Amino acid sequence: MNQSNPHKLIVGNWKMNGSLAGNAALIQDLLIGWPKSQASGRVQAAVCVPSVYLTPCSGLLHHSAVDLGAQDVSAHEAGAYTGEVSAAMLRDVGVRYVIVGHSERRQYHAETDQLVAQKAQKALAVGITPVVCVGETLLERQAGQTADVVKRQLAAVIQLNGHCVSEIVVAYEPVWAIGTGQTATAEQAQEVHDLLRAQLKAAVSMHERICILYGGSMNAGNAKSLLSTPGIDGGLIGGASLKATDFLSILADAEAVSKV
Ligand code: PGA
Repeated sequence: MNQSNPHKLIVGNWKMNGSLAGNAALIQDLLIGWPKSQASGRVQAAVCVPSVYLTPCSGLLHHSAVDLGAQDVSAHEAGAYTGEVSAAMLRDVGVRYVIVGHSERRQYHAETDQLVAQKAQKALAVGITPVVCVGETLLERQAGQTADVVKRQLAAVIQLNGHCVSEIVVAYEPVWAIGTGQTATAEQAQEVHDLLRAQLKAAVSMHERICILYGGSMNAGNAKSLLSTPGIDGGLIGGASLKATDFLSILADAEAVSKV
């Protein structure tokens, strides 16, 4: 049940951080450390930047080995939705991935499972890969509800997008591990990844790919062990994606692990 993808996907989530100058410097360092000429193709990298910086970052990342990602997308196609950014607009500026259902959006913006599923649908409709985040809070884990919570969150996305579920990337992000420095152990992550993989397998046809990332305080110190855990196909990285040396170190670990 825990066979994983031989390829790894490493996605940085910059959250609400950065500046024009700071982003340019960070991207410059990333592209020096992760040049296209040396990319093996086994590891795919992306950075999800604040929407206001998508266009300049798109220019900086053009033709590089690092793809552009966004952190959210509207559940609507177009029209009178002040402040929202549509999937078509994201595609227009070169976005390849979009995070949907991050716990910070579920928590601070009251995003429901259904809304998250609709956002994933809008991204898929324009050829952008949604990175669907699922994960339990500490209270839910302590109450023994982890499996129920993550399965419910994923079920809504599968129900609406069943026909193209193999185009979705899932990120298991235990809420208690996000930004806390408290990572899930490899065993804890693997247990949930196995559940999610089984749920996805039941929805895709036999040879379709499944990609499940782990996120939550992944850093240069623990990435190798997490990324070498069967069933973990990559990482969604917050804090450690803001420092080029840390993010590059995680990419190098992914590369080393994917060789084995
Ligand atoms: P963190 O964030 O790596 O800082 O814990 C991960 C995320 O929220 O995607």
